Order: sequence, then C-alpha cells, then structure tokens
Amino acid sequence: MEVPMNKSIIFPGIGKLLHGGDYNPDQWLDRPDILKEDIRLMKKAGVNVVTLGVFAWSTYEPVEGEFHFEWLKEIMDNLYENGIYTILATPSGARPAWLDEKYPEAMRVARNGMRNHHGLRHNHCMSSEKYREKVANLDGKRAENVGSHPGLILWHISNEFGGECWCDQCKKRFQEYLRNRYHNDIEELNKQWWTNFWSHHYNSFEQVEPPYQNGETSVHGLNLDWKRFTTWNMTDFMKHEIEVIRQYSPNVPVTANLMRLYNGLDYHEMAKDIDVISWDSYPAWNNDYETVTQTALDTAFDHSVMRSLKREKPFLLMESVPSQVNWHPFNKLKRPGIHKLSCIQAAACGSDMIGYFQWRKGRGSYEQYHGAVLDHLGTDETRVFKDVAEVGEILRKLAPIEGSLVKPEAAMLFDWNNRWAIEDMAGLSKNKKYEDTCRKQYTAFLKHGVDMDVISPEADLSNYKLIVMPMLYLLKPGFTDRLKEYVAKGGVVVSTYLTGYVNENTLCYLGGFPGDGLKELFGLYTEEIDALYPSDTNGITFRAGTLAENAKTFPVTDFCEMIKPTGAEVIGTYEKDFYAGTPAVTVNTYGKGKAYYVGARMNTEGMEDFYHEVWKQAGITPKALPDGIEFHVRTDNEVDYEFYLNFSDEEKKIYGIRNGINLLTDGKVEDELTIKPYDLAVLRILR
Ligand code: GLA
Ligand code: ZN
Repeated sequence: MEVPMNKSIIFPGIGKLLHGGDYNPDQWLDRPDILKEDIRLMKKAGVNVVTLGVFAWSTYEPVEGEFHFEWLKEIMDNLYENGIYTILATPSGARPAWLDEKYPEAMRVARNGMRNHHGLRHNHCMSSEKYREKVANLDGKRAENVGSHPGLILWHISNEFGGECWCDQCKKRFQEYLRNRYHNDIEELNKQWWTNFWSHHYNSFEQVEPPYQNGETSVHGLNLDWKRFTTWNMTDFMKHEIEVIRQYSPNVPVTANLMRLYNGLDYHEMAKDIDVISWDSYPAWNNDYETVTQTALDTAFDHSVMRSLKREKPFLLMESVPSQVNWHPFNKLKRPGIHKLSCIQAAACGSDMIGYFQWRKGRGSYEQYHGAVLDHLGTDETRVFKDVAEVGEILRKLAPIEGSLVKPEAAMLFDWNNRWAIEDMAGLSKNKKYEDTCRKQYTAFLKHGVDMDVISPEADLSNYKLIVMPMLYLLKPGFTDRLKEYVAKGGVVVSTYLTGYVNENTLCYLGGFPGDGLKELFGLYTEEIDALYPSDTNGITFRAGTLAENAKTFPVTDFCEMIKPTGAEVIGTYEKDFYAGTPAVTVNTYGKGKAYYVGARMNTEGMEDFYHEVWKQAGITPKALPDGIEFHVRTDNEVDYEFYLNFSDEEKKIYGIRNGINLLTDGKVEDELTIKPYDLAVLRILR
C-alpha cells in the first residue's frame, strides 16, 4: 500500500480513522453468546478497533508457568474476520494473586516505607528483577504467539504508568542514578543540592535516601532528582517490556496510554521511547463550576499537550467515556450532543482514533457502573449506543483527515521539571498555579482561533512565530542560548513573573533574575516579587498607544514582580501600592525579534487584549469567532480541514469562512456557516 507523502499515516493500509476501545472478553469467556453479540454490535456501532488484554494476566497465566493464549487468538481471528483490528496490551498493570504470594518483592512500597498488600493495580515495583522477569516472560510468549497476527496494529504497553515505589531496591537504584548523574562525585551533588544548609551534607551516595514521608523533604535538589529518577525508572521498566516485544513483533509500533497532565512522570522524557502517543481523556462535561465552552477549551489544552509530544504524527485518543465515569466527585451523564462534540474535538486537535473505556460494562467489581458502549441492559436501543454509532458514522465521513496534522504558529513551553520545582519551591504563596496559568493563557489564544502547541523547552523553537513561556522558573542547560537565537532571528517571545530563578538543580541564579543570559534578552532584571492575598487588588495600566489609543487598566492577582528595565521599553505600569507607576510590562527588541515580559498575573480580558498586540507583532492573525465556537485546523499541506465546534446551546453564525466542502454533509460552504447548538462542521478546503 502506497502512503501519500504529504500525510503522516500511523497505520498504513487501513484508510480509516480508528473507532473502538477497551474490550475485556476475558471477563466473559463463559458467555459465548455475549461474545458473539459483541461482534455484531461493534459492527453496528462502526467500531473498527479494540484494545485487548489490558488486565488479563490471570487469564493468560492462571498459575505460574501455565499459559493460555488460545482464547486470545480465537478472539483476534474473529475480530479480524469482521473488519476489527486489535491493539494488544501487555498486562503488567495488574498482577495475579499467585505472583504476589510467591514474590512479595513485586509489590510496591509506599512513601512511608510500608509494603502494599496484594490488590488493586499499578502498584508493582519497577525495579524488582523478579517482576521484570515474570512480565518479560509473559510478554515474550504472547508476542511469539500473536505478534504477527494480521489484525494486530499496535502494542499498548501496560496501562497508565504512574506512581512511585519506595522500596530498598528502588532506593539502591536511586543512588546509582545519582552516582551517574553527578559523575560519581558526592561533592558535586552536595554543591548542587546546597547541603550545608541545616547540616545536610552527605559523605557518600549510600547515605542518600529518597525523600521519605518521615525523612528528608527539605532539599529541593533531592526532591527534584527523585522525580526525575522515577521517570527514568518507569521508562526503564517500559523499555524492558518494549524490548521483549520487539524481538517477536518488530514491525508493530508501540504506545503507552498517558494521563491528563499527569504530574508523576515527565512525559517529554517518556515519549522518546514510544512510537505513537495515546492518552485517556475524562473531562467533567456539564459541571457546575464552568461553562461547557470552558471545559472544551481546557480539554483542547490537554489534547495539545499530548499532540505536541510527537508533533510529526497524529496521536490517539485511547480512552474516553461514552456517558459517565464512576470516579469523578459527581458523575453526570453526557448531555445530548456532547459525546459527538467531544469525540470530534479530539480529532480536530490531531487524534486519528476515538477510543472508549469500555465496550461493555463488567457485571461486578469496582467499574460495574463506569460508562460503556453497552450497558447491563445489553441492547443497542440506548441513547449511549446511538451516540456512539453516530460518532462511528461521522468518523467514516472524516476518513480523509487521516494522517493530517495540526500545525500551529504559536507554542507554549510547558516543562515537568519546572512544574516540580515550582511546586516544591517554598516561598510566595502555597499554590502558585502553574498548570492553571498555562491553561488560561492557552485558552486566551484558542478563544480567538489561535491554536498553540505545548512543547518542551528542548523542542525545536524554529517551527513557531511566537513562543509563550509562563513562569519558566527553572532553566535547563542550553535553553536560553537557543531562545536568544530564536528571537534574534525574528521570533517573538512572551515571558512572565517568576522566570529564570533557578538552574536545573534548583540553585538560584546570582546577579539578578531572570538568569542564564535572559536579562540581556528581555532588557531588564527583576528585584522583588510581591505575593498578594486573595483580597488584595492591583492593576496594570497599559500606556496610551500601546494596546489602544487610550490607556487601559486591567486587574492583576497573586504576584507582582518589580521590573528594572536596562533597555526594555515599558508599556505597562502598576496601578497601586508602594510600587504604583513602576514597570509591570515591557518589551525589548533583540536582533530581529521581540521579547515581552509581563510582571503580574493579568485577568483574562487583559491577557486577550495584550495578546492581540503580541499576535500583530508576530504576524499571527486571530479569528473573530462567536462565543462558544471552537476552531481548529488540520492540514496535509495540500488540503486544510477546518473544524468549527459549537459548544454552546445557541445557534451560531460564522462569517468570512474560506470556501470549502462540509465533509459531514457534502454540501458546499461559501462565506458563512450556521451551526446548531452542540453541533459541528468540518470543511475540506484546497490550499
Ligand atoms: C483509566 C484506565 C481504565 C479505566 C478507566 C476508568 O483510564 O486506564 O482501565 O479504569 O480509567 O475511567
Ligand atoms: Zn521498588
């Protein structure tokens, strides 16, 4: 099968967007009638892929060394004959009781040093040799059995990797990790961790303990290295599984299903070792604290984080729920239209698959009330089934978008190391709201039709006209040189309070923030930063002729940083307090580009006004969109696919549309578009 050059097709030869999800026939092997009905209804719902075996260890290996794969083979055959592909999971996410009974070292140890009992899932020790051996044995045997099955398109490694293990074996590996990181030089570690503080100097790597709950938690360098270590160790465990699979199934790509902005692992690191990004999205639609439009914008941010982990390929929405989950504080049903919109939003953001957890509700245990395509009722005559079948139909019509990409002109930097360092920083105020700030800035963009990638500071900056870097408190080595080069060549960058305080090991820069050469880029240094009480008020006044003809003032909250320009032009000043009239927002010309610095946390309106000016400078054209309409574009360089999603309960008219064909109706669209409440349009436009 020839793959078109202009597309990034993940699964050549399929020619469809994938639609399906987790399927657990291992829970129903004694009900052949149900297994048969499953296939019939999958076809009816337009399902063309399932994820098998996520938690099937005890069915594969009911007692140690006794393997059963015949059932799997039969199910995969059956699915394939009916046009349904398989994503095959490795079952390492949960262990059978015999394993924990015989090898208790496979069970995870909690932060207080106590070993878990058998049960739950995701609670194995990533360092345990025994566990690795048992997992590799099963993975290998299964890959040998079905690894070249024609229906198999993707390996799904374990499930939602997460958590930490604090056992002695992990402690030893941590010490080895540090030895390696600090070149076997304990004094280098002492220096980077500033351990003469409170007399916490170490004489050897053996003395270093993980930051136990009742142990050393006051050394920021230690806390950060422990998090890095956990990412490294988890990734090492994952690679151990991947290696075995590649031996027997070298031509099938691998994925690991990731979680919403998960804090425990640096996904930028982990993503390097997987072929395809996939993730599990469970927004609280129709909640009582924000509009549906806002939930959608937030979810678009989450998709963007995932998409940007591998921007050269589409990603996969591995799991989502067709109705309600069972673990939110309140598990509301998806209102009519929301299922369709939320699924196509994922596609609009760059996903080539819509997957569900799960196909059929299990009769018992913890997830018996978690939404699924098929309920205990067992029929296809349900609202949920019809919603799913409708999505199947829409995805069929959207097949041409397969392999096209979202290519925004702007990017936001988001960094896990930075996030961890900010969280651990003792100062200012307890919750510094890093993620929230990033989300809000992303939202301010997307509301005006300007999408952003959300990238690591290590990513290639040259793909973008504009880089936004909220609260980049920790700077990784080499980053600032690349940023300066980017701006010198004409790029535009926006930075905020709390930028460039510490190096990659959380040591403060001396001689003024932002450190590591950024003072020169922004043409300023900062002297103090004020933390505001929630009831405190202040504002930024933008000078007349900057954002508008007249001066404009916007409220600010949380932080106000005192800026000392050394060359930057002041465009906004503080409104009140002892620093009234002093610089709050500046811009510096650096080479061919511009570097903006915003000293305080502005409200949404202020941010949106400010960014309109920044977009102009960067040569980015925003779109005038009615409230509630979300806009995304995918492109294959020959054809653009424009998505208009109406997340509001009102009919919306959009004017000045590029002419194209609505893929959902096959109708021509010229100049204007009307979209019903909770409905959408996808336009195919020749470039
Ligand atoms: C996660 C897991 C699934 C399931 C769902 C429930 O995404 O991967 O196995 O437990 O949550 O929402
Ligand atoms: Zn361990």
